[in-house]
This record gives sequence, C-alpha cells and structure tokens, in this order.
Amino acid sequence: MESLKNKIVFITGASAGIGKACAEAFAQEGAKLILTARRIERIEALAKELKEKHGTESLTFKLDVKNRKEVEEKIAGLPAEWQAVDILVNNAGLGRGLNKLYEDNVDGWEEMIDTNVKGLLYVTRNLVPGMVERGKGHVINIGSIAGHEAYPKGSVYCATKHAVAAITRSLRMDLLGIGVRVSSVDPGMVETEFSIVRFYGDEQKAKDVYKGLTPLSGQDIAEAVVFCATRPPHANINEMIIMPSAQANAFVVHREE
Ligand SMILES: NC(=O)c1ccc[n+]([C@@H]2O[C@H](COP(=O)([O-])OP(=O)(O)OC[C@H]3O[C@@H](n4cnc5c(N)ncnc54)[C@H](OP(=O)(O)O)[C@@H]3O)[C@@H](O)[C@H]2O)c1
Repeated sequence: MESLKNKIVFITGASAGIGKACAEAFAQEGAKLILTARRIERIEALAKELKEKHGTESLTFKLDVKNRKEVEEKIAGLPAEWQAVDILVNNAGLGRGLNKLYEDNVDGWEEMIDTNVKGLLYVTRNLVPGMVERGKGHVINIGSIAGHEAYPKGSVYCATKHAVAAITRSLRMDLLGIGVRVSSVDPGMVETEFSIVRFYGDEQKAKDVYKGLTPLSGQDIAEAVVFCATRPPHANINEMIIMPSAQANAFVVHREE
C-alpha cells in the first residue's frame, strides 16, 4: 500500500459532499491538502477543523473551475512548497434540472458543460504538466454512472459524464509509461447537496430522490478514492462503479414503502 503521508492532494469542489468527504479521508491518512471551491468560507472552516482534528496542513483558495483565467493564474501562482501536487481529485461538478431535452433550460446546459467538462479540463491541463515533469502523479476523476448509461431527462448531465469517461480513458493513454496514473470513481446515488443544486434549492424534491432507500454517503465515495490513491505504483484502478445496494442501475431502484 502506498502511503499518503505528506502527499499533496488538490481537491476541486471541497466545500461540500464528496469533495469535502475526500478532504476528510485524505487528512486522516496524513496528506497535505489544497482545498478549492467557490464558497471560500466553507473551505476555510474545513481546513481549520482538519488542522484541529488531524494536524493537517492545508492551502485554501477560491477557485471557480469554469473560469479558465482564474484556474491558470491560481495554479501558476501556487506557493513553491505546494507546487508538486501528487494527486488531483477532479470532483467539482453539478447537475442542473431533470427535464426532457426539448423542454430544458439552456442556461443549465451551459453551467454543466462549463463545470463538469471544461472546468475539469482546465484544472487537469494546468496541473498534469508538473506531474509529467516529476514523472509521478495521479489524477482521480469523479465521474458517475451517468457516464456509463444515459437516462431520460438527463441528456446533458449524462453527456458531460460520458465526456469525463472519455477524457479519463484518453488521458490514461497519453500518460502511459510516464508514471502518472488516471482513475475514475463513478457513483450512483450519493446523498449530498447534489440534488438540492440540481433542483435549484427545492429541498423536498431533493429529499424525494432518496425516499425509501439508503443512499451512499460522501464518505463511501471518499473511501474508494483513497483506495485508488493507495495502490502500489504498479497497479492502477481504471474505474470503480459504486451504487447503493438498493440501486441496480440508473433506472432500477428498490424503495421500501
Ligand atoms: N451525489 C450524487 O449522487 C453523485 C453521483 C454521481 C456523481 N456525482 C458527482 O460528484 C461530484 C461532487 O458532487 P456532490 O454529490 O458532492 O455534490 P455537492 O454536494 O453539490 O458538491 C459539489 C461541489 O462542487 C463544487 N462546485 C460546483 N461548481 C463549481 C465550480 N464552478 N467551481 C468550483 N467548484 C464547484 C461545489 O462547491 P462551490 O459551490 O462552493 O463552488 C461543491 O463543493 C460531481 O462531479 C457530481 O457530478 C455525484
């Protein structure tokens, strides 16, 4: 098992859900964290909490992955001691709406494509060259089962996660023989703020998504991410699909009355 002690882990979308749980899981393993998201006050509070609990060293800054210039500048401006990023967790992402394509809100499409695809690309493009130079690193993308199957009313979200799956596979080939690994962790239903964001703050509608079943938690996914990151250098987890026991695929879900 590869130790994570003092490894530098860069997490996008660390202010909530899976990203926050990843920060907690990597902190437990003794890693140093670069915590980014748009809601800076949340990541600052998280850094403080992890310092108290585990003595974790963190660097925090506001990063909107949609903003190409901001991504370029913030990564180029990393303090010298934080530049050698070992692990990138491309987690920032969102769904917007659940509607038939021909009735859907186009603004939501722009947001999903700009965040889930272009944002992931900007961060990757700016961090991977350093990994290549050092001959080591690991990119872990948070994909989705929506990257393996398409479901009704989710055409654009599914398209973005299919794009993430394609990027993961191509990048793995681009980095072959260089010592930089590429994995994706692809969850089914995880109860986070995801559905609240998807339904524009409608908490009841968000709650109903998980009605009658036990969904995954952010921690379930974070444990899988840490598993990927701790394989010995000769082994790579290409992709991991994780669903609640009550979910068979994107369509078939068992709910207790
Ligand atoms: N929950 C699920 O069922 C599920 C299933 C499969 C895959 N996923 C994927 O898991 C990832 C994390 O989602 P989650 O479930 O943890 O949802 P969440 O609780 O809503 O967290 C999403 C995170 O992404 C960040 N984010 C969103 N837009 C951003 C932007 N433009 N720039 C930087 N950060 C941004 C948010 O931070 P700020 O708002 O502070 O910027 C937040 O920290 C996403 O890629 C999602 O597609 C989720």
